Amino acid sequence: MNNIVLALLVIVTGYIVKITLFPSYKQNPNLKSKGKKKPEVEKKKPIVEGSFTPRQLSQYNGHDEKEIFIAVKGTVYNASSARGFYGPSGPYSNFAGHDASRGLAKNSFEFDVIRTFEQPIDDLNDLTETEKVALDDWEALFKRKYPVVGKLVAEET
Ligand code: HEM
Ligand SMILES: *[C@@H]1O[C@H](CO)[C@@H](O)[C@H](O)[C@H]1NC(C)=O
Repeated sequence: MNNIVLALLVIVTGYIVKITLFPSYKQNPNLKSKGKKKPEVEKKKPIVEGSFTPRQLSQYNGHDEKEIFIAVKGTVYNASSARGFYGPSGPYSNFAGHDASRGLAKNSFEFDVIRTFEQPIDDLNDLTETEKVALDDWEALFKRKYPVVGKLVAEET
């Protein structure tokens, strides 16, 4: 009799310890069997603290990285859904992986209005009022259409 009580106690204690130490086994059925594929999100490379230096951002041009991220006024948007516009063979592919602010302000997608990752982040201070208004309109479209994935930050020196 005592042995049975003891055995039950061991089993119950063991179970409590297990779900305390490994709660995911209980909550996430995908982790249960080793052979099963893990959910997609877990395989994704983590995005560094939701902030991107121009150099990091440049990877997300739809070519080096499949995803397409574009910065507008310091905010980085996930424009992957508009691959037709910004993807490698799209008309606005120059913006992909870049800070598009100056180009949007000046209504140009030429490389001479798009900074490379070697240049400092554009402070946009020299834009005219008209250009600032144009940029704000574009920013409103990006806000409406694309999820934010982070901030554009300067590289640490
Ligand atoms: C040659 C003249 C141009 C024509 C005929 C043209 C035409 C178009 C059209 C039809 C769209 C798709 C609109 C939609 O379906 O929502 C579009 C989108 C766009 N255009 Fe142009 N465009 C021209 C020049 C430019 C220039 C110079 C820029 C530079 C800033 C530009 C930036 C954009 C951007 C960023 C989008 C995509 C916006 C989004 O993400 O939804 N376009 N353009
Ligand atoms: C970006 O958007 C695409 C499709 O629109 C999605 O598959 C992808 O998970 C998104 N990436 C991030 C980091 O939000």
